[in-house]
Amino acid sequence: MSALAAEYNAINLGQGFPDFMMPPALTQLVNEAMQQGHNQYAHMNGLPLLRERIAEKIATLYSTNINPDTCITITPGGTYAIYTALTTVLQPGDEVIVFEPAFDSYLPNIEINGGKPVLIPLTFPDYAIDWQLVKQCITPKTKMIMLNTPHNPTGSVLGSDDIEQLRQIVKDTGIFILSDEVYEHLIYDGKKHESILRYPDLLERSFVCFSFGKTYHCTGWKLGYCIAPPQLMKEFRKVHQFNCFSCNSPVQYALATFIQQQDHYLKLGTEVQQKRDYFQQLMGQTRFKALPSYGSYFQLYSYASITDESENDFAIRLCKQNGVAAIPVSVFYKQETNKQVLRFCFVKNEQTLEAAVNRLMKL
Ligand SMILES: Cc1ncc(COP(=O)(O)O)c(C=O)c1O
Repeated sequence: MSALAAEYNAINLGQGFPDFMMPPALTQLVNEAMQQGHNQYAHMNGLPLLRERIAEKIATLYSTNINPDTCITITPGGTYAIYTALTTVLQPGDEVIVFEPAFDSYLPNIEINGGKPVLIPLTFPDYAIDWQLVKQCITPKTKMIMLNTPHNPTGSVLGSDDIEQLRQIVKDTGIFILSDEVYEHLIYDGKKHESILRYPDLLERSFVCFSFGKTYHCTGWKLGYCIAPPQLMKEFRKVHQFNCFSCNSPVQYALATFIQQQDHYLKLGTEVQQKRDYFQQLMGQTRFKALPSYGSYFQLYSYASITDESENDFAIRLCKQNGVAAIPVSVFYKQETNKQVLRFCFVKNEQTLEAAVNRLMKL
């Protein structure tokens, strides 16, 4: 859709990236790090100071003590952390439970490791997990359950009930958990982020993946981290050592300082919620109908009252004829589906959102 948006000069509310500036103090810190000569390979596991500061942040936010030496590895983005975790544990034939719609890298990452995705649809239209169905899908081959909260593409978030159900299901099994929490701070309406890091009994079998790109409005920097217990992290690092080996040094130095500014991430949810609300208010002038979004960069909108077209056909027509790019939610499913919903990214300047909605009002 981004290529089509560029070709047709459309406003791109498809791909998830902010079109506003990241904190200038952070780019300044990267400049300084480069000028101070921090331009050579960083420690394989990530700059020790950055890992220490991440551990401090986690202790404050989630009341969990994480050993920065043995449990944290800095990675080139969240996607790489997810891929590496899957590669660490999967053997050919292993089953991995994935909830659909699912972030696009999950399935290829499982399949390239010889794993078999076991696909469970989230309920519609609230995109919740049907835990009864999960229980029925567990087999002796189930190696891992993949979670994503806040969720891309739907904006749904897990609650404490979900955590309790998960606990019951994995108790006394060898099932691993991969928890994709790249939107940990992009959570709205006073909801609490149910990080796996809060639950020591779940954390002991988990890889928890994060992205600095989402938290600091710099998706192009591709830096993130993974947290896992020592015995799992030891294996994760064996894969990491001969793949990426070491991440961008100056950005790690800069983040080690900037991460101490708690205000930035503590206020993020409120700031970005204002964008969601502004977009929703503007969209009220169109025939699109909002589905709830409690987190992430995204909100789904139903176009059922506009047309019967498939999500794919409508998204292409919207881009070519109306000049607005959005993502058909069906692309996040393996089998063809059509719920007549499109994903819109609202982390944009007000002018961008206004210009897009002016075009959507004509439908
Ligand atoms: C759910 C989810 N996981 C992981 C990622 C990837 O994060 P990164 O850009 O740090 O690789 C994204 C980015 O869009 C995402 O939406």
